[in-house]
Amino acid sequence: MSAIPQSMSERADALELEQMRALDGRVIVKSLLFHLAEGRQSMGPPVNYGPGMHLHMGEDARLPKMPDKPTLMDFFKHRFAQSRGLQHLLQSANLAQKNGLPEKMVLACLLHDIAVVGFIRSDHGYWGAQLIEPYVDEEVSWAIRMHQCLRFYPDESVGYGYPDVYVRMFGADYKPDAYIEADYQRAKNHKWYMSGRMICVNDLYSFDPNVVVTLEQFEDVIGRNFKQPKEGLGNDNTPSSHMWRTLRRPCNAL
Ligand SMILES: [Fe+2]
Ligand SMILES: [Fe+2]
Repeated sequence: MSAIPQSMSERADALELEQMRALDGRVIVKSLLFHLAEGRQSMGPPVNYGPGMHLHMGEDARLPKMPDKPTLMDFFKHRFAQSRGLQHLLQSANLAQKNGLPEKMVLACLLHDIAVVGFIRSDHGYWGAQLIEPYVDEEVSWAIRMHQCLRFYPDESVGYGYPDVYVRMFGADYKPDAYIEADYQRAKNHKWYMSGRMICVNDLYSFDPNVVVTLEQFEDVIGRNFKQPKEGLGNDNTPSSHMWRTLRRPCNAL
């Protein structure tokens, strides 16, 4: 019987080794970010290369297979979280549609939390905007970037108050960081301010679990407003192609 690891770090290493399993003779290693998220400034335990054992590179057989030329819909279906987060986006876009917003703003609502359902929560507005920027109207990515700050500040003119849910989520005395305040000051005088604000207005913090909105409802909106590259997302050559590739193959060793 092996010795019981003593420290948290040793226990985590042992667990990591257990989880680090061969995939067709390829060892999966995780990026620092995954370890930081567990509160560990580490890159995991060292890899013991056995005979014929290498690090994993390429398609990850543990995840749903992606087509060679993936579309936004493929990422929604095969990579993004299939959870309440996704329903949040769908219901938000549904509300925007019902409220008669222009189509590109329906797309903005559909994609406003793409970072959260797609890969990362922290600074999600900025990450999400960067991810889609090459493929959408500039106003759409601007609005998504700026909903990050605008959602913390009320605008009585459109009936948007500080969300009650934020009091529960962050505490009554939570103050946004200085960079959020600074971006708000920049955004509120911008020509597209109201587009960013419309994301907040249609950002449903609680939704009716009995109403199920499907992604297919927005297939045409995506088709007309998201410039799908013919090579497939990640195979094209834009400033965010690497982000799509990393989403597709998150455990590539390098
Ligand atoms: Fe958001
Ligand atoms: Fe949201």
